Amino acid sequence: MDYFNYQQDGQLWAESVSLDNLAEQHGTPLYVYSRATLERHWHAFDEAAGEHPHLVCYAVKANSNIGVLNVLARLGSGFDIVSLGELERVLAAGGDPAKVVFSGVGKTAAEMRRALELDIKCFNVESEAELDRLNQVAGEVDKKAPVSLRINPDVDAQTHPYISTGLKENKFGIAFDRAPEVYRYASTLPNLNVKGIDCHIGSQLTDLAPFIESTDRLLGLIDTLREDGVEISHLDVGGGLGVTYNDEKPPAPSEYASALLKRLTAHKDIELIFEPGRAIAANAGVLLTRVEYLKHNEDKNFAIIDAAMNDLLRPSLYQAWQEIIPVTPRDGEAKTYDLVGPVCETGDYLGKNRSLALEAGDLLAVRSSGAYGFVMSSNYNSRCRAAEILVDGEAAHVVRQRETLSELWQHEQVIPD
Ligand code: LLP
Repeated sequence: MDYFNYQQDGQLWAESVSLDNLAEQHGTPLYVYSRATLERHWHAFDEAAGEHPHLVCYAVKANSNIGVLNVLARLGSGFDIVSLGELERVLAAGGDPAKVVFSGVGKTAAEMRRALELDIKCFNVESEAELDRLNQVAGEVDKKAPVSLRINPDVDAQTHPYISTGLKENKFGIAFDRAPEVYRYASTLPNLNVKGIDCHIGSQLTDLAPFIESTDRLLGLIDTLREDGVEISHLDVGGGLGVTYNDEKPPAPSEYASALLKRLTAHKDIELIFEPGRAIAANAGVLLTRVEYLKHNEDKNFAIIDAAMNDLLRPSLYQAWQEIIPVTPRDGEAKTYDLVGPVCETGDYLGKNRSLALEAGDLLAVRSSGAYGFVMSSNYNSRCRAAEILVDGEAAHVVRQRETLSELWQHEQVIPD
């Protein structure tokens, strides 16, 4: 559930703020987030785990605006990061480094050093080479690095191949069969402190079965490791819980967590870590865009809108479907439109075959844009990136200003004569 609803005036609002007014004031394309929705989704995870020791580490990559991170930090959220940039954003947003887990296959020595200096909660290590590097860097700064191994459970997440990460052929994690051996090795390294076990099998999962299968595999591994003398104190189940874009019916965080907790009855002392990104942020945001032109070809109607693949890449990259609705629905005959942007690529579209009654100048909202929306935007075609607004009840805060033209080339220069 979210807080983007049509109100009595027939228009779409974000909480108690009119989207039409926001677009007038700040221009389009415009990302608009709802604080109440972010908080509701975060609490859904936190409450789902109940009394079991747990930590919700929001996956920063889904939406890393410091305004958004700060809302979650105020709730006491942890954070899952994948780069130095994300780590510094968490700090800038007032997040607690002691609640940060560091994922990703390519951590550099500099990233490790900074994370050690800040005493983060855990490094989710993805290879033996990374163990060696972390051991060395920790030794240099005279610290013991807390580690978890990311295990690749070889489970089919049944999602889009680009966002499926838990199969043998994916680049992620350590092969399940080799895990005991790699844990043994990690335990021999003097500057590491083995803490946990971790996995992330993919994103936008709408079925519980793959989560349960991989959790069962990891719990089995925890028992094997205990026999080997390696004690695991936390189980990080990654992110991946899907959301409703169209007619998907993903499990609620409560169903998801209770299914996991049932498996954990023999492991009551093991802290459960969640890394949700999309489930918290996707439906907490919309992208507002205006229709520039209508264009009717022999067998197609196009609505050329002012947002493009550089603003929201998911449709072009994954053929992802996101609902597109008018902010002020109008009477009149609906036609079937392809909603396309101004970028010079055939693949530049936000929606295809959408039935809408439209006129040039109409304002549209692309729903479910709060996750993997702005963060994946670019300056392609020298387009300035959109502004971002965070709505909080009746207040609307600019949490990122629209880029200006001179910012496009501020780091560039012409060569001397
Ligand atoms: N933890 C790790 C280690 C991850 O790699 C990811 C996402 C998450 C947590 C958060 O997953 P979520 O709860 O958001 O599903 N750009 C794609 C999604 C890529 C996800 C990458 N990893 C999209 O727009 O669909």
